[in-house]
Amino acid sequence: MSIPLLDLQAQYNLIKDEIELAVLDVLRSGQYILGPKVEKFEKAVAEYCNVDYAVGVANGTDALVLTLDAMGIGPGDEVITSPFTFFATTESISRLGATPVFVDIDPQTYNLATDKIEARITSKTKAIIPVHIFGQPAEMDTINDIAARHSIKVIEDACQAIGADYRGRKVGSLGNAACFSFFPSKNLSGAGDGGIVVTGDKDLANRIRLLRQHGSPKKYYHSLIGYNSRLDALQAAILSVKLRYIDNWNSARREKAQYYNKLFEGTEIVTPKELDHVKHVYHLYIIKVPNRADVESALKGNGIGCGVYYPVPLHLQDVYGGLGYQEGDLPVSEATSHETLAIPLYPELGVEDMEKIADIVKEAIED
Ligand SMILES: Cc1ncc(COP(=O)(O)O)c(C=O)c1O
Repeated sequence: MSIPLLDLQAQYNLIKDEIELAVLDVLRSGQYILGPKVEKFEKAVAEYCNVDYAVGVANGTDALVLTLDAMGIGPGDEVITSPFTFFATTESISRLGATPVFVDIDPQTYNLATDKIEARITSKTKAIIPVHIFGQPAEMDTINDIAARHSIKVIEDACQAIGADYRGRKVGSLGNAACFSFFPSKNLSGAGDGGIVVTGDKDLANRIRLLRQHGSPKKYYHSLIGYNSRLDALQAAILSVKLRYIDNWNSARREKAQYYNKLFEGTEIVTPKELDHVKHVYHLYIIKVPNRADVESALKGNGIGCGVYYPVPLHLQDVYGGLGYQEGDLPVSEATSHETLAIPLYPELGVEDMEKIADIVKEAIED
């Protein structure tokens, strides 16, 4: 028997009829780029996040690039963010010619260590990108206070966290703008790439809307150098169906995370720390173990999927060699990248499978 890290087929089978109808509807409509399906989805996401505007784009990376671009961030500017995230968070900054400035993470939540942010702010700092890593919101009140004191923007990288909330407010509504990804592995996922920016700032939303379509307010008229970065109508139609299920799916993830926590109680295995004032949506269930390689090979040897997120923190990536960071500069991120492991967690995962996984992990720890 094998258990994957994530089972996309299980979710598809549950809502197959609705998805297939939605796809057929788009195919038959002949409207494949933007149009009513995308507008409907944008409206639904804006309402879901409790913000005024949402702009669908081609993927989560572009959501970040277009947001930074629309804020006028470019060469000579600095953007503060976490080194413990997927590369796209900082790739977007670098793509615009700006410089990522890395701040270490909190050892319990793996989110930005807010007490270390202010020391890294300079006259060049234009924005902070907190990443709601693995589905747990970053400490947004503190981050927003720091940003307000220094007149800099806050862009939530909410790619892993749709549906999570912070002090009763949904992620997406917590900064100047927020970026989501609908990559197939995400909690809300398309059948391909997709992304969206949400914001309460009308001018910013309008600028991103222009940027996603060649800077073109009207066909063949161009007021900005833009991109070709639109959310496909097919993806929007699929995502509109799935958005209706996201709260149930996130609740199932939360229940399963709690069950794992219980199964690992009284062991050396460090389970995710969910802060009291947030609702974590467990995009990934991450354990911290002393002998990760043994646990990984025990799981894989038993046909169980697992994954390392992320093996090399971004300040130590080859491509950022020129930024001058050394090993030891951001010790929490570095240690975390050696000790953590994602084990299977998805809404359809069965209780017996979870018990089997937990037994294998516990055995590997005791060996
Ligand atoms: C934290 C984070 N930021 C950005 C992205 C980029 O999203 P995408 O793959 O849709 O470009 C992802 C996901 O891949 C992510 O996990």
